[in-house]
Amino acid sequence: MQIAIDGPAGSGKSTIAKRVANQLGFIYCDTGAMYRTATVMALRKGLKLDDEAAIMAALKPLTITFKPAPEGQLVFMDGEDVTLAIRQEDATNNVSQVSALPKVREEMVKRQRAIAAANDIVMDGRDIGTTVLPQAEVKIFMIASVQKRAERRYKENVEKGIMTPVAVLAEEIEARDHKDSTRAVSPLRKAADAVEIDSSNMTIDQEVAEIIALANQKRAH
Ligand code: CDP
Ligand code: CDP
Repeated sequence: MQIAIDGPAGSGKSTIAKRVANQLGFIYCDTGAMYRTATVMALRKGLKLDDEAAIMAALKPLTITFKPAPEGQLVFMDGEDVTLAIRQEDATNNVSQVSALPKVREEMVKRQRAIAAANDIVMDGRDIGTTVLPQAEVKIFMIASVQKRAERRYKENVEKGIMTPVAVLAEEIEARDHKDSTRAVSPLRKAADAVEIDSSNMTIDQEVAEIIALANQKRAH
């Protein structure tokens, strides 16, 4: 079974996807982490972020792997733990530029489909229901107001000692939403057969329960 969860930045995809995968005993694939890893690689190598050929030459041999851990999922780039590095501001603010490169997307989609082919999976991202897994049995499009998403990010940041104001986070979120929804190749878009969940006023438990119920309905068919 395949469960695809798409939506804008900070809508709650990865939190919910992880829990749904845990409850069902499925693999969880965080496709945003893959684009973030490619971005960290390009920044470290000092590549120009619009130089598709250079980025592709470095990306092709690069391994990106996930490892479940009690504190969440770990992400490795050529064996190095980059779990924290990919969440830093420079990666966050540049990832939309790298993820808009058509050849980068082609490569990532190929890798994501290979992971899905071998496992029951919950995969989250921007184009999972539309492009990566158009046959997914359950498709969710998760949204939340910009204000709510910025407040949630603020809370997460404060726990890490980062004090960026909510208004700045809201601007960054809106800028990334805009780039992700207007790019030429597989932009952020709700699949025609996706169920929209507005998480603005829902608890994590409520969202998880709703998705598990949808998955059980499909299984019963
Ligand atoms: O967690 P957050 O919502 O901040 O973002 P993410 O899921 O980690 O994704 C980071 C970025 O990767 C997005 O802003 C997109 O530019 C890109 N992305 C994408 O283009 N396609 C996907 N399937 C997943 C992420
Ligand atoms: O993956 P994405 O960027 O879409 O969002 P996330 O990182 O899973 O969630 C952003 C924040 O919203 C996290 O701190 C979640 O705990 C929180 N959240 C929430 O408070 N209530 C929900 N119903 C869903 C997420």
